[in-house]
Amino acid sequence: MAATIINGKKVSNEIKEELKIKVDALKAKGITPGLAAVLIGEDPASATYVRSKAKACEKIGVYSEVIRRSADITAEELISIIEDLNGREEIDGILVQSPLPKHIDEQAMTLLIDPKKDVDGFHPFNVGMTLIGQPTFQSCTPYGIMELLRRYEIDPSGKEVVILGRSNIVGKPMGAMLVQKAKGANATVTTAHSRTKGFPEVCRRADILIAAIGQPEFVKGDWIKDAAVVIDVGINRVEDASKEKGYRLCGDVDFAECEKKASFITPVPGGVGPMTIAMLLTNTVKSAQRRLLL
Ligand code: GUN
Repeated sequence: MAATIINGKKVSNEIKEELKIKVDALKAKGITPGLAAVLIGEDPASATYVRSKAKACEKIGVYSEVIRRSADITAEELISIIEDLNGREEIDGILVQSPLPKHIDEQAMTLLIDPKKDVDGFHPFNVGMTLIGQPTFQSCTPYGIMELLRRYEIDPSGKEVVILGRSNIVGKPMGAMLVQKAKGANATVTTAHSRTKGFPEVCRRADILIAAIGQPEFVKGDWIKDAAVVIDVGINRVEDASKEKGYRLCGDVDFAECEKKASFITPVPGGVGPMTIAMLLTNTVKSAQRRLLL
């Protein structure tokens, strides 16, 4: 069976169109949603991500501000940038692009962001609210995956979901979202990680397999159940001399092999990646809507 390719690019564009209508309605009431991104250092991948986020904001009429500083910034300077953004009324969302230079404590910076402006959904308050199933800013990548499942009418209820990876921004919140007693969730969740024994057998249990481990083409075709739903969160650069840039992008899943067995599969690029930005914008617009109540 050839799989249906889940088109994250198309869904993310639909979400952006829906958001633009909400942004226009806010603007009619004198509110322009605003997102500030803080980019520290010269990491090219981070610079690309921040540029994409800023471009996406402009596309739907959200004010975007990028604050760039060199990698030798002091913790005190970064703290003062965050505190300033916390206090600015026209800024509804704040994101500090990771990774940060080694001498800065990333978790400490996350804690300083006002949870009401934490549109990444990384602050422990928002992570905790996600865990107990309360409305909050949810971490954008797993939130985007929930949205893809919903829009493709893939109901996780009663299904075996295997998540590969236990990161704080994908694996753990993904499990928390899927296990909720709620419409679009109710899954039986297994989280596998570097200490898990027998990856192939664990993966074969999955009706829905979500790979977020950062290992290029790690999941092989014979690791997946017939007609499984395969969600690939990985974005890996692998050397490829035939490409102009000298590399190609691939996911954590061997797409060519898994596509033959899966019922649904996300491609890389164009699957989960664009959804992360769409959900960041969703959170930013939601944050701006709260200004209506002030
Ligand atoms: N670095 C990699 N992904 C992300 C993300 O979603 N948000 C932030 N702030 N940094 C990241």
